[in-house]
Amino acid sequence: MTNITPKGAALITGASSGIGAVYADRLARRGYDLVLAARDEGRLQALSTRLRAEAGVKVDVLKTDLTVRDDIRKLEARLRDDANLTLLINNAGAALFEPFAVADADSLDNLIQLNVTAVTRLANAAAAGFSQRGRGTIVNIGSIVGLMPQFKSTVYGATKAYVLYLSESLNDELAGSGVTVQAVLPGATRTEIWDRSGRGIENVPSEILMHVDELVDAALAGLDQGELVTIPSLPEAADWAAVTTARANLQPNLSRPHPAARYGLKIPEPA
Ligand SMILES: NC(=O)c1ccc[n+]([C@@H]2O[C@H](COP(=O)([O-])OP(=O)(O)OC[C@H]3O[C@@H](n4cnc5c(N)ncnc54)[C@H](OP(=O)(O)O)[C@@H]3O)[C@@H](O)[C@H]2O)c1
Repeated sequence: MTNITPKGAALITGASSGIGAVYADRLARRGYDLVLAARDEGRLQALSTRLRAEAGVKVDVLKTDLTVRDDIRKLEARLRDDANLTLLINNAGAALFEPFAVADADSLDNLIQLNVTAVTRLANAAAAGFSQRGRGTIVNIGSIVGLMPQFKSTVYGATKAYVLYLSESLNDELAGSGVTVQAVLPGATRTEIWDRSGRGIENVPSEILMHVDELVDAALAGLDQGELVTIPSLPEAADWAAVTTARANLQPNLSRPHPAARYGLKIPEPA
């Protein structure tokens, strides 16, 4: 895919099912060419055949395991070097809901490779390529679980808290570069992730479960509105703004030369 097209192309990880597959559909209809990555090549090929026919866009399929370093490196090279790429949907991910003390350490490590290491490396390559070319958008798929340590999804939640921090910080760093960043924080969404993680979607109350089409359409509406953080089911944007303001208000007292008086320490007088 070397031709430069008006919208450019979107690289979508985890495009073989769920949220990633709906992004592929919606972005094709918006006129983006696509680069689709996931492990299940058959599903990616079927999706690409449909989208070429229905939307008339170019679609490349890259069979990729994001826990394999050589596979990630191929996507990184594409993000850096393909001048037609203007959008990264950093979406592939998995969940684990086992209690931390009984969880298998290798499974946790694998989850971190997928949800943190791969996301970071791809965002890094996109930040380099997009800022050099002066335009581009990085969308990172987090989760509302990353805001809620009480949800008992210890490592999954921690990986998603990481995605939020990465996105907010990256947005700061890239200000003025022509690169836009968005973190999307879905709540429970009807996809395969539940069955894959062993929780079973039948155990998720229907009153908190969003249809995946609505989730992606809201995420794209948030992107169109210039939101840095999109929480599709949150009615009042001001509620999220209040959280970030409360956090920012801590700043003057987060790093000082002495501990706070409430610890009752004797602070030596300056000599
Ligand atoms: N559904 C929810 O309730 C929910 C809520 C909050 C956040 N999210 C986030 O949304 C994102 C998408 O998940 P989903 O809900 O759409 O679930 P999903 O239907 O299970 O999709 C996950 C995607 O990730 C890909 N993937 C998994 N392991 C991979 C690997 N090692 N290498 C490459 N690709 C891999 C899968 O493709 P292959 O199996 O073909 O590789 C699949 O395309 C995840 O980051 C998830 O944490 C979901």
